[in-house]
Order: sequence, then structure tokens, then C-alpha cells
Amino acid sequence: MVKKRACVFISGSGTNLREIIRSSRDYSFPVKVCLVVSNNKKAKGIIFAKKFSIPFICISTSKYKFEKTILKKLFEYKIDIICLAGFMKILSKKFIRNFKGKIINIHPSLLPKYKGLNTFQRALKSNEKLTGCTVHFVNEKLDSGKIIIKKKVNIYKDDNIETLKKKVQFEEYRAYSSAIRKIYNLN
Ligand code: GAR
Repeated sequence: MVKKRACVFISGSGTNLREIIRSSRDYSFPVKVCLVVSNNKKAKGIIFAKKFSIPFICISTSKYKFEKTILKKLFEYKIDIICLAGFMKILSKKFIRNFKGKIINIHPSLLPKYKGLNTFQRALKSNEKLTGCTVHFVNEKLDSGKIIIKKKVNIYKDDNIETLKKKVQFEEYRAYSSAIRKIYNLN
């Protein structure tokens, strides 16, 4: 099987990146992580690119310069799919149009509920009994593209932001790999 070439965008701890890389080591997984991009030079997740000898770029400049530089690299590395994994910068409409249907994102809520930031706090404050994560295609509106997969997580009375984050992130790792398989009809 010829694997599709993925680029993973991160901003922070990169645990989803780590799990995508792990999945991609399976010969039957449809993508190979060929490039990692961070908009934050201090992102801990860069360590996973280094550990697995994957080329990476860190650019913390203006959106315009960031996208211009990244665009060149994406073509240079012949990237087929962009996976946003804790990438906290909003991409321009132009950039998204350039990669229409080829950018996916993971979000820590059951979309369309709780788009944007602070999803755990908001779910707890609203006394939700259920939350989770969603992998979706990226379109020009924030957290609004076509949904690929959702995974549910129960919220119990004694949950707090940290316990909830831990449970949701555990589901995220499985969700991201399943979503990638699903895109390439391997589920
Ligand atoms: C993940 O929980 C992801 O869902 C969230 O950031 C975390 C990144 O963790 N993404 C967003 O909130 C995007 N709006 P990681 O860097 O350890 O993968």
C-alpha cells in the first residue's frame, strides 16, 4: 500500500501527534507522518518529531509569513493531508481553500456543542452528563466542518477539568487514528 503523506500541525504537548505517529508505524495504516509544523518554538510536542526522526518546522511569526513558509514546505514534502492536533492558531480562509477537503482537526467536545476554547470548563458548568471529542474536516468556519468521527465520554459528579481532560484525551488518541482510517475507507 502506498501511504498518503501527512503533515501534523501542533502548538503544545503533541500527545495526539505521538499517537498518530505510533499508529502510522503499522504497515496497514493509510498515512505516514512526513512533516511536523509548530507555530510555537517551545511546543513540547516537537520532541516526538525528533524522537521519530521526522522533519519539523517551528515558525512563530505573523499568520501571513507562517502560511507562506508552510505552504512552500507542504508542496516540497508533497503533503496529501494536514492533521491539526492541538494547533491553536486559526488558519486563513485562503490557506483552507488551498487545501479544501485535506485538512482535519480534533476538537475536545462533541461538536456542534462547545466550539472554541475552554470546552471542559463549559461542559462542567452546564452540568453535562456527556462530552467527548470530534474529528472533523476543516472549513472556513471555526469547528464547523463535516464530522468524521465522535467519541463519547461520561461526566461524573466528581469530575473536574483535569480528570475530564485526561478521559477525553484518552479517547482522542483512538478517535484520530480511526478518523484517518475512515477517510481512506479502511474502517
Ligand atoms: C487536544 O485535547 C485537542 O483536542 C485540543 O488541544 C489538545 C492538544 O493536546 N485542541 C483544541 O482545543 C483545538 N481547538 P496535544 O497537544 O497533547 O495533542
